[in-house]
Amino acid sequence: MNLKIAILPGDGIGPEIIEQAMKTVQAVAKKYNHQLEYDYALTGATAIDKVGEPYPEETHQLCMNSDAVLFGAIGDPKFDNNPKATVRPEQGLLAMRKKLGLYANIRPVETFESLLHKSPLRRELVEGANFVCIRELTGGIYFGEKGRKDNGNTAFDTNTYTRAEIERILKLAYEFAAQRRKKLTVVDKANVLETSRLWREIAQEMAPNYPDIQTEYMFVDNAAMQIIQWPKNFDVMVTENMFGDILTDEASVITGSLGLLPSASIGIHTSVFEPIHGSYPQAAGKNIANPVATILSAAMMFEYAFNLPLEGKIIRNAVNASLEKGIVTEDISKEKPYKTSEVGDWIAAWIEEN
Ligand code: IPM
Ligand code: MG
Repeated sequence: MNLKIAILPGDGIGPEIIEQAMKTVQAVAKKYNHQLEYDYALTGATAIDKVGEPYPEETHQLCMNSDAVLFGAIGDPKFDNNPKATVRPEQGLLAMRKKLGLYANIRPVETFESLLHKSPLRRELVEGANFVCIRELTGGIYFGEKGRKDNGNTAFDTNTYTRAEIERILKLAYEFAAQRRKKLTVVDKANVLETSRLWREIAQEMAPNYPDIQTEYMFVDNAAMQIIQWPKNFDVMVTENMFGDILTDEASVITGSLGLLPSASIGIHTSVFEPIHGSYPQAAGKNIANPVATILSAAMMFEYAFNLPLEGKIIRNAVNASLEKGIVTEDISKEKPYKTSEVGDWIAAWIEEN
């Protein structure tokens, strides 16, 4: 198969973790006889520094012409500490989501035995937790009308959702639930918000079409609590953009595996695969960052963008082998840490040999 990939390393540790993921992708392509066609493009603070904007048109065109995008991370503290900055790396991310139509952000929450001691939760609560958060990514308060009035002294952000947007994401969530343990939790604030009432109304209309899936409704404040109290009760969770932003951060830390968790953003034009962690600027260039979340994002790319589950599986197996053998970066093992590039080399070699 011909695999056309756009590579957006971005900022901070982005370039070095992407390099390891590409070693893996190349190993997989070689083993299964796929033709790789890939190109690099600028994004984030790196793009602002070089061409003045965080998601340049050239980058957008490359993404549009690719079957998948492998993304590192964006963000640079020099912008965070400057409230007067007129362009910010994050604007590039939002522009990319909108222009590529990345309507569904998928974050699997999985536990890894070797990291359970890092969970802020008691082992017995979190061991075996395995659920997927599906966050709507191109609508809601992030993209609704916003502005100031009264000479700037009143500000507003509008939360808007259309039926088509809600149906699209719920359909995807039901498809995920059908492939898993057949439970869907629709998270909203229907006791207060009109948008949430529309979400719930549409979910109630759709639920009878999926008779073997149990649909459950939960207010977002309650969901925030239950993620911590009974994480094992969730299978697939679906929610709007803003609630999803908050809940996915919460969900990602309960397993203790922040450096290991990948994500996919499924789009209309193409899909983007990236680690859930940020650009970790303190570690940039030091060859110490954990590349596994990006490598597992590449596994998701084979599974979701190319429909090649075997190729995804061998990457997952290679990662599990590296964890079992202790070929891990310093965030996992202080005693015997391996470098970012060593972990990447080891995982790529395992794929070639197995
Ligand atoms: C995320 C991030 C972004 C968001 C920021 C960087 C704009 O927090 O991907 O979750 O809020 O969506
Ligand atoms: Mg976030």
